[in-house]
Amino acid sequence: MKLIVANWKAYVATAKEAERIAKKIAQVKIKKSTTVVVCPPFVFLAAVKKKIGRTVRLGAQDVFWKESGPYTGAITPDMLKGVGVGTVIVGHSERRQHFSESDDIIRKKVDMALAGGFDVIICVGEREREDKKAVPESVGEQTRAALTGISKGALARITIAYEPIWAIGTGVSDTPNDALSAAIYIRKVVSEMFGAAQATMLKVLYGGSVDSRNIRDFVLQEGIDGVLVGRASTDKEEFAKMLASL
Ligand code: 13P
Repeated sequence: MKLIVANWKAYVATAKEAERIAKKIAQVKIKKSTTVVVCPPFVFLAAVKKKIGRTVRLGAQDVFWKESGPYTGAITPDMLKGVGVGTVIVGHSERRQHFSESDDIIRKKVDMALAGGFDVIICVGEREREDKKAVPESVGEQTRAALTGISKGALARITIAYEPIWAIGTGVSDTPNDALSAAIYIRKVVSEMFGAAQATMLKVLYGGSVDSRNIRDFVLQEGIDGVLVGRASTDKEEFAKMLASL
C-alpha cells in the first residue's frame, strides 16, 4: 500500500478554495493500492471532509499535547476526532523552526495522538546535507527522540516522513536514491529500538518538492512507502495529475 499525503500548510486561505481542491481530488480515480490523506488547515477540516468523498482520508497538520484546559488557541485530539480526522502530522520541520517545537514537545504530541487513536506521521529531516554519501545523524536522533517509550503495538500506527529541510519548498528534491538511503537508515534506527520485524513493517515516506514530474520516482521505490506533498498538493490540477499518474 502506498500513502500519498497532501499537506496544505498555510497555502489555502478560503473555504471556497479548500472545497474546490477537495472536490477535484474526490473526482480522481485512485488505485486501490494507494491511500490518499488530505491535511488542510484546521479551519477548513469540516468543509473538506464533506467534499473528499469516502475513500480519501482526512488528516490534520498538527495536534496539541493536552486533552483540554486553559490553552488558548490549542487544537486537541477530541476536536480533531469530532470532525473526522484519522491521521495527524507531528514534528514538521516548519513547526520545529517557526513554533519552537522541541523533541520533547514532539514526543508529547506523538503520545497524545496515539492515545487519541490517530495514525501519526512523524516528520524528520536534516537542515543541510553536507556529505552526500551519509545520511545525517540528526535524522536518526529525531527518529529516536520521537519514538522513545512508544509501545511496539503503537508503532503500527506510526509513519515516519523523511523531509530534508533543504528540499522543502525549494523545487530541488532529494534524489530517489538518497531518499531511499534515508529510509533505510530510519528503519535501521527503528530496528535497533524495536527489532527487525517492526522496522520492516514501518512505513517511511519522502517529502520535499514532490510534483507530477518526480512523484513516481519516489513512490515506485520499494523501500519508500509514499510521499508527503506540500505546495504541489494545493494546485488542484497538478495534484490530480500526480494521483492519476500512480
Ligand atoms: P513541498 O512539497 O512544498 O516542498 O513541502 C514538503 C513538505 O514539507 C510536506 O510536508
